[in-house]
Amino acid sequence: MPTVVRSHAKINLGLYIGAPRPDGFHALSTVYQTLELYDLVTVTARPAVATALDLTSNDSRVPTDARNTAWKMVALALDALGLSAEVQIHIEKRLPVQGGLGAGSANAVAALVGLEAELGIPQSLGAPGPASGTWDSNNSSPSVLRGSASWRAKRLQIAAQVGSDVPLFLIGGAILGLDRGQQVYPLPDFEPTWCVVATPETGVSTPQAFRDWDALCQAEGLTAESSQDKLNELSRAYASAFAGGIPEGRPGDGSSGVLAAGEDLAGPQESALVRTGISSWIQNDFERVVFPQHPPLAEIKRLLAGSGSPEAALHASLSGSGSALFGLYQSCGDAEAARERLRPAGVASTLTRTLPRSAYWRQMLLQ
Ligand code: C5P
Repeated sequence: MPTVVRSHAKINLGLYIGAPRPDGFHALSTVYQTLELYDLVTVTARPAVATALDLTSNDSRVPTDARNTAWKMVALALDALGLSAEVQIHIEKRLPVQGGLGAGSANAVAALVGLEAELGIPQSLGAPGPASGTWDSNNSSPSVLRGSASWRAKRLQIAAQVGSDVPLFLIGGAILGLDRGQQVYPLPDFEPTWCVVATPETGVSTPQAFRDWDALCQAEGLTAESSQDKLNELSRAYASAFAGGIPEGRPGDGSSGVLAAGEDLAGPQESALVRTGISSWIQNDFERVVFPQHPPLAEIKRLLAGSGSPEAALHASLSGSGSALFGLYQSCGDAEAARERLRPAGVASTLTRTLPRSAYWRQMLLQ
């Protein structure tokens, strides 16, 4: 019986980038936040003498071979488990394909979760936090699975090998991302918040954005060492701001699940984004190099923000290196007003909400 897994999108609530490191990567400090938007990843797997992978998609732009992140993840996981299997993966693209939403990285984690379900590895062995159940690890089970902590650590390691923003999807909710983005720490969630994702047709190349960032660092005399202090300071600021979390009994604590459409999720109370002051200082460094190259994107941010209007965003930003942008809003009405502002500019947008960790895991397996 195939396993169908939701593969959720993410946005970056702030993204601070350091100067280039000798290994070619950049240290960064970001808060990833998962969204309700998702692709569907269907996995069928059965033990076999030799491993054989087959990948299909409803979207012809998705690579169907070893270049695909889901393919890489499953191949590495089987290797780590010391298992051989025949695996079929189907990726149904529903998310906008624009960069910045982590869609390909999320697909990799969804494929892993599907593989685990198909092979009878309980989700509790992989989900973050202490394992809620124990697995009957008899002598014939792969040794990496004896003890949930070791498999949790191993799958994070595999995810980091596949890409810098893959491990975040093994945590879900609000996540602090450090080092090259692959070092992930769960943060206390804030209440589900209305979000408009704008998906302009512009394509932004992430490697090019990093190269432009490098030129800026050189011009400003920023070194990997000098930027590290700033990144450490920002990481501490994130951690303490999010420590406020969701006050008890507020929506989004995981007990209430998804609220009714049309309901103002942030409620009459002030959103945590405002209450904690985060919205006043977070920024995405990529905007400094991407907006000058693609001026229409700066204009879309302005439309999402709606500054000065009563329906202004709590926060609006480029996500990752773009070209997707997002705005977060106090109410559904404010979010709809932002979509209205985008319409005359011919910019496609989607209405969604931020997805806390508990709901992320509860909703992940569809069947
Ligand atoms: O890890 P990932 O495959 O997502 O990285 C793609 C490219 O983006 C890397 O080869 C590197 O050039 C750049 N990158 C970076 N610093 C990061 C993450 C990615 O320079 N923190």
